[in-house]
Amino acid sequence: MNWGEEILTKVEFNNINQREEKEKIAKQITEKVKDGQVIGFGSGSTSYLTVIEIAKKIKEENINIIAIPTSLEIKMLCARLEILTASIMEMKPDWSFDGADEVDNNNWMLKGRGGAMFKEKLNIANSPITYILIDRSKRVEKLGSKFKVPVECFPEAINYVNEELVKLGGKEIELRKAMGKDGPILTENNNVILDAKFEEITKELEKDIKAIPGVIESGLFIDYNVEIVSE
Ligand code: A5P
Repeated sequence: MNWGEEILTKVEFNNINQREEKEKIAKQITEKVKDGQVIGFGSGSTSYLTVIEIAKKIKEENINIIAIPTSLEIKMLCARLEILTASIMEMKPDWSFDGADEVDNNNWMLKGRGGAMFKEKLNIANSPITYILIDRSKRVEKLGSKFKVPVECFPEAINYVNEELVKLGGKEIELRKAMGKDGPILTENNNVILDAKFEEITKELEKDIKAIPGVIESGLFIDYNVEIVSE
């Protein structure tokens, strides 16, 4: 028996910017979905619209897929739309899709506005190919020009990680605050996020941040196997 879907509609994404453009990209990527595939589902509004398109295709064509969601938000959307899910521990994706906050000319990416970069990176690293779905506002000359670099860290390590980020050139470091809860946001892995501004994002920075004890993951995605899809 299925649950009634009412409470899960409350995770709807409201006020999606560039919606028309994102919907076109969502339709484009949905054409790649084939019966029996295991697909990594990214997070954010573009991924959200893509999941809705994929759910329509599953119903219309009577096919089955298994999704590996990268956030609770997308997992709940799958539950609401009756798309079966698994974790990366159980299955490896045939391919994945995801959004991004910034993409430069080398296809290096900055992600994590939604705080889901840890599982997003797991899917991307485990997929033969990941399609990155972006509207034109995401293209930047210089990575870090619009967003700070999000760094998920173990809460008790916060002071140490903060000091080490400063040594790597991090500035204006902020503890990301929650909305709808007092205090810091806790990720789905029960960690906190420090957002740090970096004037220069070098090829080594992702690895340097990851090497700090207490860091779980950062929002830097440098040299991953991705294909950028835009209108
Ligand atoms: C989530 O943590 C991010 O990495 C998203 O992939 C990113 O914020 C894209 O979101 P939009 O599709 O809403 O722009």
